[in-house]
Amino acid sequence: MGHVQITPSILNADFAALGAEIARIPGADMVHVDVMDNHFVPNLTFGPTMVEALARSTSIPLDAHLMIEDADRHAPAYVEAGCASVTFHVEAARAPVRLAREIRAAGGRASMALRPATPIEPYEDLLPELDMLLIMTVEPGFGGQKFLDLCLPKIRRARAMLDRHGVATALQVDGGVSLDTITRCAEAGADVFVAGSAVYSAEDPDAMIASLRAAAEAARP
Ligand code: DX5
Ligand code: ZN
Repeated sequence: MGHVQITPSILNADFAALGAEIARIPGADMVHVDVMDNHFVPNLTFGPTMVEALARSTSIPLDAHLMIEDADRHAPAYVEAGCASVTFHVEAARAPVRLAREIRAAGGRASMALRPATPIEPYEDLLPELDMLLIMTVEPGFGGQKFLDLCLPKIRRARAMLDRHGVATALQVDGGVSLDTITRCAEAGADVFVAGSAVYSAEDPDAMIASLRAAAEAARP
């Protein structure tokens, strides 16, 4: 299990001032950038040109979460745009092994996401191909949704699989993560935590990052 990483999502930040919004979270391990195409999810955010501008605006590594169809075709562009880590959804990838290898070959960290109803078991043999596995804890599409406790058993099973394979793949959770729910996620074995509304609705977003980190560290198995 890797060290605790807090990766705030800018989905609920002020889109007219994203550079300044990112400057409010210097303690972030990565900035989580939610890319949505209005097809894979019913919401639209931004594309590679915007992401490239964000990458230029900060020295914090970007963690792109692609909620887009045809991930095979579009994901490599986000490595080119300067993202350190690129997450595609397995439900939107035709050839996840080839895609993970392409992301790595382009110099990015490859990560694969599962929606709440997507099981982890079919993908066990693929874990060594991934730098990170993202288990969604809400249906993707919007910030500010309620954490789905039904995802906790899958986080536990994924942690057991990663430990069994002895791979360094990080285990990220995304959706409804807050001071209320981060303990459950950390106890279940997650080590990378996305938090959107919890961070950006806080009066001091960077202090919230520190509080989330402390709560996760205290709860790890
Ligand atoms: C949801 C996004 C999340 C979202 C998290 O589809 O993938 O990254 O911004 O926001 P909160 O933490 O508010 O659930
Ligand atoms: Zn996300």
